[in-house]
Amino acid sequence: MIESQKKPWSQPERCLRRRGRKDGQSDMIERIIFATGNEDKMREIRMILADIGIPIVSMREAGIQAEIVEDGKSFEENAVIKAKTVMKLTGEAVLADDSGLQIDYLDGAPGIYSARFMGESTSYDVKNTALLEKLEGVPDEKRSARFVCAIACALPGGEILTSLGTMEGRIGYAIRGENGFGYDPIFFLPEYGCTSAEISPEKKNELSHRGKALRGMREKLRAVLGEK
Ligand code: IMP
Repeated sequence: MIESQKKPWSQPERCLRRRGRKDGQSDMIERIIFATGNEDKMREIRMILADIGIPIVSMREAGIQAEIVEDGKSFEENAVIKAKTVMKLTGEAVLADDSGLQIDYLDGAPGIYSARFMGESTSYDVKNTALLEKLEGVPDEKRSARFVCAIACALPGGEILTSLGTMEGRIGYAIRGENGFGYDPIFFLPEYGCTSAEISPEKKNELSHRGKALRGMREKLRAVLGEK
């Protein structure tokens, strides 16, 4: 990436060193690029990864544009493809995620095609209504589903870290709730008696597949990176 495209840090300017290099040198990781253009995700990611002490910047903030072909067979493969592609382009540490909804009655669909299901530009009202219709007459015990999120981190030396998080629930019977996004209004959380579009954003961060995967990644990054 071009040096002048780097933007000022929005978090404390600190650097971490990789631990344990035999030659006594350390690779400085000055920031981590998160391969997303989604500002909501960036907010959540910055909040959860705040205490690793490295600034996290979005691709837009880093001045990077990349066409990434997500042709993996799993959430994890797609997250690794995204992180590796941007790491090779920039030479910097890169985090990426891939997530979606798996419905057991539909053999795991829409799964890794969650964003593309019925076309990227189709509204989630239409997508959610179509899924409810596919499950019409299906009893509670066969409506099990989960959100899955894989996070990958590609480090400049070539090392890859991955972390997976899930949130279990089932497909409801109607579209309910205004919070969240995507499939949240049909994702029923039995222990809360409401959908994931009806819980607060803070509660969703606590329970969500993405929150769990990010907290798992935070621990892996802490283990690999040592503070200055
Ligand atoms: P991506 O990981 O940004 O590619 O998102 C994949 C797709 O999965 C989203 O566009 C949503 O359709 C769905 N998805 C992932 N996480 C959630 C969630 O927390 N709530 C609702 N839908 C989600």
